[in-house]
Amino acid sequence: MNKIKVACFFGGCSSEYDVSLVSSTSVIKMINREKYDVIMIGITKTGDFYLYNGDVDNIENDKWFDEDTCQKISISSNRSDHGFINLKTNEIVKIDIAFPILHGKNGEDGRLQGLFELAGIPYVGCGMTSSAICMDKFIAHQLVSDKGILVPKSFLFTKYDEKNDIIDKIKCLNYPIFVKPLKAGSSFGITKVQTEEGLSNAIDLAFTYDDSIIVEENIDGFEVGCAILGNNKLIIGEVDEIELQEGFFDYEEKYTLKTSKIILPARLSDEERDKIKKTALEIYKTLNCKGFARVDMFYTNDKKIVFNEVNTIPGFTSHSRYPAMLKEIGYDFSNIVDQLITLGLDK
Ligand SMILES: Nc1ncnc2c1ncn2[C@@H]1O[C@H](COP(=O)(O)OP(=O)(O)O)[C@@H](O)[C@H]1O
Ligand SMILES: [Mg+2]
Repeated sequence: MNKIKVACFFGGCSSEYDVSLVSSTSVIKMINREKYDVIMIGITKTGDFYLYNGDVDNIENDKWFDEDTCQKISISSNRSDHGFINLKTNEIVKIDIAFPILHGKNGEDGRLQGLFELAGIPYVGCGMTSSAICMDKFIAHQLVSDKGILVPKSFLFTKYDEKNDIIDKIKCLNYPIFVKPLKAGSSFGITKVQTEEGLSNAIDLAFTYDDSIIVEENIDGFEVGCAILGNNKLIIGEVDEIELQEGFFDYEEKYTLKTSKIILPARLSDEERDKIKKTALEIYKTLNCKGFARVDMFYTNDKKIVFNEVNTIPGFTSHSRYPAMLKEIGYDFSNIVDQLITLGLDK
């Protein structure tokens, strides 16, 4: 039997480039080589695509980009090619499926998914529109809120809004408040603002990551997450919980867990965890997610579930939250990777 050709995309023109290198190394190592042929495609921080033929370990330490191991490629928009063009050799390379293991802008936000759609290449994970909607914190909140699920009170601004008007408009929110780029991840550009004095810098910072920002009320409680796998028949992982000592789950805490802890399963009753799983499922379906996603919510002190965001390509190392939540119900890492590819081909 011919093996299925999977093109794994890593890196990316995104502030989450480094995070992708770590996730993709884990995924590439765990793909079953008896069933799949793996083609590695690295995307530089400046957005150039290269076929990579080097050692997998040099992805994680960001030493992959080398003249000897890389050849520039371009995804072919011609459906009959069903793959990419090697710009060095002019060879057309067919692939069966693309596996974007990229986070944030230009990887998780629907743009690359759109390129695959146009090229007629099946791909792992959420579709173009769903990816774009989940990346847009404001639109995702609106759609989820329409289903009767609670979301934080928030305001949306663009770079054309005057700063004074922004500050005026959010006077009705109680401090602390969160100022975030509308579309980013890994907590880049987010500030938890304690008083109005901190607002101006927080707004400037968020605008360095995106042309739009969202300002949200603070939700008192703790964060819970739920891993979901599937297109139609959905598998729901165990609910986890983030224990924070202070501040919020910022970039450093996410990747070092210096003072915070991920607790799995969340320290809640079976009924409470069931309610969270049901809400996560409804959010997944509402936002038309396919393949996989991690749904993040808050559980408030008065036992309410408030939606935060959906990560359509969640962190994916052996110690990441998504695989851990599924491991808790009996799915090991390589099984999840295998299912994701199968689901991508089935979509
Ligand atoms: N409204 C909020 N109330 C309380 N904490 C928040 C709120 N919004 C964000 N946070 C904190 O900031 C972190 C990052 O915010 P999030 O919206 O998830 O952005 P990202 O997409 O960068 O992960 C969250 O994990 C949480 O710790
Ligand atoms: Mg988040």
